[in-house]
Amino acid sequence: MQHDTYEPMLDDSERLSQGELRTLQLSRLKSSITHAYEHSKPYRVKFDEAGVHPNDIRTLADLEKFPFTTKADLRAHYPFGFFATPMREIARVHASSGTTGQPTVVGYTKSDIEIWSSVVARSIRAAGGRPGMKVHISYGYGLFTGGLGAHYGAESLGCTVIPMSGGQTEKQVRLLCDFKPDIIMVTPSYMLAILDEFRRQGIDPRKSSLKIGIFGAEPWTESMRREIEDAFAIDAVDIYGLSEIIGPGVANECVETKDGLTVWEDHFYPEIINPKTGDVLPDGELGELVFTSLTKEAMPIIRYRTRDLTRLLPGTARTMRRIERISGRDDDMLIIRGVNIFPAQIEEQILTVAELAPHYLLEITRPDRMDVLTVKVEARDNQSQENKQRAAQTLAKRIKTHIGISIRTKIVEPHSLARSAGKAKRVIDLRSKP
Ligand code: DLL
Repeated sequence: MQHDTYEPMLDDSERLSQGELRTLQLSRLKSSITHAYEHSKPYRVKFDEAGVHPNDIRTLADLEKFPFTTKADLRAHYPFGFFATPMREIARVHASSGTTGQPTVVGYTKSDIEIWSSVVARSIRAAGGRPGMKVHISYGYGLFTGGLGAHYGAESLGCTVIPMSGGQTEKQVRLLCDFKPDIIMVTPSYMLAILDEFRRQGIDPRKSSLKIGIFGAEPWTESMRREIEDAFAIDAVDIYGLSEIIGPGVANECVETKDGLTVWEDHFYPEIINPKTGDVLPDGELGELVFTSLTKEAMPIIRYRTRDLTRLLPGTARTMRRIERISGRDDDMLIIRGVNIFPAQIEEQILTVAELAPHYLLEITRPDRMDVLTVKVEARDNQSQENKQRAAQTLAKRIKTHIGISIRTKIVEPHSLARSAGKAKRVIDLRSKP
């Protein structure tokens, strides 16, 4: 796709020099920490216990003195204990389901929703979206932040929104063909299910009207980007976010560089820490991403440990810093016979084998007290038995060479693994818990 000139389309904050950005961040950080301390009881207690006070913030580096906030803290004050504005000023709540059953609830004032919409609008624009384009949204609507977050952002940019939500894959394809959107916003794994459906209906996905896909909410890889870009003849860019910080639109890739995600640092201040010691790491080092909100009213969040692993990189397409594509969450990390692996590393290898489709499931068992990882992966259509066998061997060999573990591979029939309409479930752990 031909990219037009971006310069005239940037927000004022995207034009700031690094010095101006740091000054803005410092003044916003002071207000945000003061607001949290004065209006949210859990923060007052935490800061008092740690012996820190908002007046201690004189430079951005002083943030290090403040305690972290974790998902467990938010859960301990379920549902609204962290809110820093009276309930009548909360315009909306969202919640993330989590794995333990107890959702984490987040709240927004009208102004928070405006800021959220503006960062999503900025994200869509960074992806190449422009006012007047049609945006088909297949992120789920509801308590999940994906659908409504994308929706308000696209509207705020001046796009026409098609609020399809997730699921009903046949209808997704029908609307994509009939309404002719320019942009789709969806999880990368569900985009693959939509791709299958195009093919099932005998429609050439490369002939669709789509020009841009904005994919996120789950880890994905460079190989998956190539797979999707080739299949649909679109630009595929990465969008990152989490409900605790605001939702989608915390960071987004710029289409002209596709080199990691620009963090919208005027609203969300990033740090990378060593997840074991909590020490702040210099830019460039791999560690856990931590965010502090700089402008949120309803639920300011101070040093939130995302558990997402990445590194901070200098800005390229923008002055603001980038994060590398998220390699995974520390709780998604598999430890197989002592080797740490993320599902995305396996995905990267699967997609180097021509006979294999990007649909896979990792199953971990523990026969004879030894962990065994079985990679179940679908063959592409019309593969001979011989091809499948060779693909299984190639995959096992590649994983051994590149990741360092022996695995079992099970090549399954095309379209046999369950598809998800939202975030894909990649791992089934069948080891009995002690
Ligand atoms: O997934 C918000 C979102 C919606 C982001 C739509 C992008 C698009 P949660 O449900 O709270 O919010 O889940 C947040 O999802 O901590 C990451 O582990 C993961 N995640 C989100 N975006 C990406 C991404 C939304 N681009 C959690 N790459 C985060 C990898 C991602 N992981």
